Amino acid sequence: MTKEKVLEALSTVQEPDLGKDLVTLNMIRDIVIEKYYISFTVVLTTPACPVKDLIKNNCIEAVKKVVPEAVVKVTFTSDTTTKRTDARDILPKVKNIIAVVSGKGGVGKSTVAANLALAIAKDGARVGLMDADIYGPSVPIMFGVRGERPLMMDLNGKGMIVPLEKYGIKLISIGLLVDEKNAVVWRGPMASSAIKQFVTDVYWDELDYLIVDMPPGTGDIHLTLMQTVPVTGAVIVTTPQDVALADARKGIAMFGQAQLNVPVLGLVENMSYFTPAELPDNKYYIFGKEGGKRLADEYDLPFLGQIPLVQTIREGGDKGTPVMMGTDEISKKAFSDFAGHVVRSISMRNANMSAVEVERVLD
Ligand SMILES: Nc1ncnc2c1ncn2[C@@H]1O[C@H](COP(=O)(O)OP(=O)(O)O)[C@@H](O)[C@H]1O
Ligand SMILES: [Mg+2]
Repeated sequence: MTKEKVLEALSTVQEPDLGKDLVTLNMIRDIVIEKYYISFTVVLTTPACPVKDLIKNNCIEAVKKVVPEAVVKVTFTSDTTTKRTDARDILPKVKNIIAVVSGKGGVGKSTVAANLALAIAKDGARVGLMDADIYGPSVPIMFGVRGERPLMMDLNGKGMIVPLEKYGIKLISIGLLVDEKNAVVWRGPMASSAIKQFVTDVYWDELDYLIVDMPPGTGDIHLTLMQTVPVTGAVIVTTPQDVALADARKGIAMFGQAQLNVPVLGLVENMSYFTPAELPDNKYYIFGKEGGKRLADEYDLPFLGQIPLVQTIREGGDKGTPVMMGTDEISKKAFSDFAGHVVRSISMRNANMSAVEVERVLD
């Protein structure tokens, strides 16, 4: 057996999302061969890769096809992909920026954003959560950091805000910078400049993913944000109800505008069905069934998942311990599956689409 033979064998293994083989994608490193012991490392496009096991099994099978008696050891590492050539002075060390949006308030956008961030971080990615909902910041309560104030640091003579850290992710919210009472009165230009400052004056350092909890709706503030922040892709949150779906359409339409140039990664349906804690196998579709799925199909968008309506999710948010940090395995799995779809969608986007471009409207 030689390294070339191993590579030849592995060139028959496809990366399921990217549709090319692992060797062409340059994902194989550190091949070591000692008699029948063959080991190598697969470099994934994201630590949160949900198809790890599939790739591993296919690699072992491919090598054994050539050397049936081989003992194959596959190790994983990751180098999260990025596609940014734009204004690097904005969030310079952040590889991917994911905007979580909804047409309508109260659909669980913040809950989804927070648990998405935690689910991705669980697999070892470096994750930040920017609560950009200046009208209704929810990070302070959801993460139990109400009243805490971030520190300042000096970066080349400029004062920068240092995000808080909780449950392994970095957090910033307008609710951590000003009194909660004051945030709600921000309107128009003031709101826009507050958000711009938020983007330029926070020192995130190196992040694989920055999740942005956007304000609900599709107004001026959204355009400002989308033109200021080089968003890699947007996730649209809806509930299965007709009213929410109608507003979700507006969200999709906003991203359809040529000037925005932000791809929609897909749609996630929150509060899909109610499951009582004592009857975990029962599903009650109180807001209607699969409205989100139908909407995704209609616009030809990936459907990223369904999140159940359960008490533990609401309680987690109120208590400052998001459900991803709790023990409700069913809800955790729903969020993890959803997060897996999101990071896959990002990897595919980075492989197939051009770099993120933003208009410079900062100055
Ligand atoms: N899947 C869910 N199950 C139970 N409660 C939920 C769920 N999603 C959100 N909630 C609750 O609904 C309320 C609104 O959610 P939130 O995330 O703040 O919405 P938004 O950010 O869209 O306004 C919160 O009290 C939250 O805990
Ligand atoms: Mg919110």
